[in-house]
Amino acid sequence: MENKEKKYGDIEMVHRMTVIKRIIHWVFFIAIIGNIITGFYIAYPFLMFGNSPVQADSLSTGVLNSGETNRAFIMTWMRDFHFIGAVTIDVIFIVWLYLAFFSWKEPLYKSFIPFGDKIEEAWKMLKHYFTLKNKPETGRYQDPLNAVIFTLFHLLILLQMLTGFQMYVASFTGTSAVGAWWPWLMHFSTDWTLAVFGGLTGVTLTHLFIMWLIIIFIVYHIYIEVWRSVMWKEGDILIPFGGYKYMRNKSEPE
Ligand code: HEM
Repeated sequence: MENKEKKYGDIEMVHRMTVIKRIIHWVFFIAIIGNIITGFYIAYPFLMFGNSPVQADSLSTGVLNSGETNRAFIMTWMRDFHFIGAVTIDVIFIVWLYLAFFSWKEPLYKSFIPFGDKIEEAWKMLKHYFTLKNKPETGRYQDPLNAVIFTLFHLLILLQMLTGFQMYVASFTGTSAVGAWWPWLMHFSTDWTLAVFGGLTGVTLTHLFIMWLIIIFIVYHIYIEVWRSVMWKEGDILIPFGGYKYMRNKSEPE
């Protein structure tokens, strides 16, 4: 017991996530998991629900000759939930971006600046993951390695939003219910994806590919937060729930 205390130093609580950031985290969690599930269905409908009604069915008269009636609108439901999830993600992304710069409690840029020093710290953390030696001290803000990974994750989300909007606006015929400015804005902000990814098929495949990168992020993220909790014994996993974790630094960080 005495040895352990010497190894870890004094234990102290540190605030790491504001209420709004915790809400963002869990709404992101629900919306992203939801959109992965509905996105899978949109891309590969047969995987989960078998065949849809055959063409002889007349949906306009409500006559279904084959298939289950409850299957008739599954794609519509899936697309609806996918759009609701996407709008939620768009809103959260904008709030997150604002807080990354203007949060007075924990802005993300504090984990990047001064840039040179923070790159070195991120590198030290990576070395610690592989060697289990020289654990970087825990501080008031996210460690720079996590900060870089979270930033990359948000860039993936941004690209996912833009490719999603491009597919969405491609289905528009004429103007929209809210006016011509809406499709114009989406064309203006996302038409470049057609050129970069080689047309609508390329945009669709990129959207699917990014989904896999997001899944990889989620698996890595949960693994590493559990790993940190087990190895460091500082309760990292508690951050998105209570907002706090513990510090066991040998000396006080500034
Ligand atoms: C879809 C699933 C998830 C996504 C997309 C996600 C995403 C994120 C993001 C973007 C951050 C950084 C927040 C910020 O900007 O400050 C974060 C932080 C965090 N997440 Fe998640 N998360 C997910 C699931 C989970 C789960 C299931 C847990 C474990 C209970 C978890 C534990 C944490 C912890 C502990 C942090 C704080 C890390 C730190 O400050 O050092 N996450 N997550």
